[in-house]
Amino acid sequence: EFKDPTTIVVVGASGDLAHKKTFPALFSLYYHGLLPQRFHIVGYARKALDLEGWRSNILLNLACRVLDQKDCATKMEEFIERLSYMSGQYDSAEDFAKLDAYLEDLEDRQPTGRLFYLAIPPNVFGSAMGSIKASAVAKNAWTRVVVEKPFGRDTESYMELRDQCAAHFQEEQLYRIDHYVGKEVVQNMVVLRFANFIFEQLWCKENIRDMHIIFEENFGTEGRAGYFDQFGIIRDIMQNHLLQVLAYLTMERPKSLHAADINRVKTKLLSEIMPLKAKDFVVGQYEGYREEDGVPEGSVTPTFAACVMYINNQQWEGVPFFLTAGKNLHNRKAEVRVRFKKGHSMDFFPGEEVGNEIIIRIQPDEAVSLRVVNKVPGLAKDLAYTSLDLLYKDAFEKESKDIADAYERLILDAIHGEKSLFVHDEQLRISWELFTPALKELESEDSPVKPVLYTPGTKGPPEADDLRHIHRAMVEP
Ligand code: BG6
Repeated sequence: EFKDPTTIVVVGASGDLAHKKTFPALFSLYYHGLLPQRFHIVGYARKALDLEGWRSNILLNLACRVLDQKDCATKMEEFIERLSYMSGQYDSAEDFAKLDAYLEDLEDRQPTGRLFYLAIPPNVFGSAMGSIKASAVAKNAWTRVVVEKPFGRDTESYMELRDQCAAHFQEEQLYRIDHYVGKEVVQNMVVLRFANFIFEQLWCKENIRDMHIIFEENFGTEGRAGYFDQFGIIRDIMQNHLLQVLAYLTMERPKSLHAADINRVKTKLLSEIMPLKAKDFVVGQYEGYREEDGVPEGSVTPTFAACVMYINNQQWEGVPFFLTAGKNLHNRKAEVRVRFKKGHSMDFFPGEEVGNEIIIRIQPDEAVSLRVVNKVPGLAKDLAYTSLDLLYKDAFEKESKDIADAYERLILDAIHGEKSLFVHDEQLRISWELFTPALKELESEDSPVKPVLYTPGTKGPPEADDLRHIHRAMVEP
């Protein structure tokens, strides 16, 4: 049980992120008894809203993993009753002073940690942080600020944003969410790799032919085209979510699982990725995207991207890492495929393109499976590829029904001051430095790579398969 009294202020409490992610996650934590013994939750936003109306809106959106529990409705009512709301501008130190006075009363003037969850667009991060710093930090207790992407569009805009945040808060106080890091299976990658002797031994260029990190959605921008068009799939998914997954898959063994040690090895790994160029990418756009509301005429923003990366260190030299991300494809899934070299194994089984492979499915239906050759039972001598499967729903029957949403884990960690699952400033800087030159090249008039149109509901541009074939053939024909 966590004893520090805590106040959580959700700044931007009337917006989409707060409704869809922050409050449902807070409710689930409340439901499971994981919030501190003494806690307060206050919503803050610009609109002057009527408390009951705001609360019922939150209630409507409290979709989370406990919905089918019988006492859920009662708990929801209890939770909602504990929420209060205040309106004010983000750039007003006076309005935040009013918030502070209100919080002081709530907290009975006792030392109480304050967690500010900024569910607002990044262009107001700086002013909101300035107002918090000026008027609303905790007295004799910790103050932390949670923020979420987009953290800029390129190195330059990231550095600007970083400076605006750093003007008010120390790095230790800033909790940058990349919700992929909070996913159950992404967390398991560290365990799979470092707590299993067999895997750790195999995890290097001598044995691995390539890895493929795949993110597919079978829907488009879902009404967010206006936002999406300014960023595109590379910034929306690859530069953050997939790159973080890559870091967990390839970083060296950390000294411990503490935040500082994990950060050290992740940062080192990211800095060892070879510079990216436009020619390392295939980009695509689904048909009909340009007709969506909020998309400017003739937009060339990619909704699909595939790329290849190489890591310049002893463990991974020469191994291609493929990242693919796309909207409006045939599937909804996120998974990693680790393909092993075929070596001499194919002497018995020629003609197969893939040898042993580990598939780590992040979502849906969390699973880890290993593709191995077996003799087909019977008098003949046939061989076949089969799969050793660890399906979470079978192996962890009870727990897998109730897997925490990434936001629950992340908010809980922020309350506890545990930073290992948050993205350090240095990691973001390096990842922007990695992607910015390629993005600039891809976005220039004379880019050598142009978006290929693809039909919604398909695998995306076949050029992405060609990119992988070419690089795979360089490792092992
Ligand atoms: C967000 C992106 O970060 O991640 C969205 O902005 C995307 O475009 C979403 O749909 C995917 O997250 P998840 O957890 O649903 O895979």
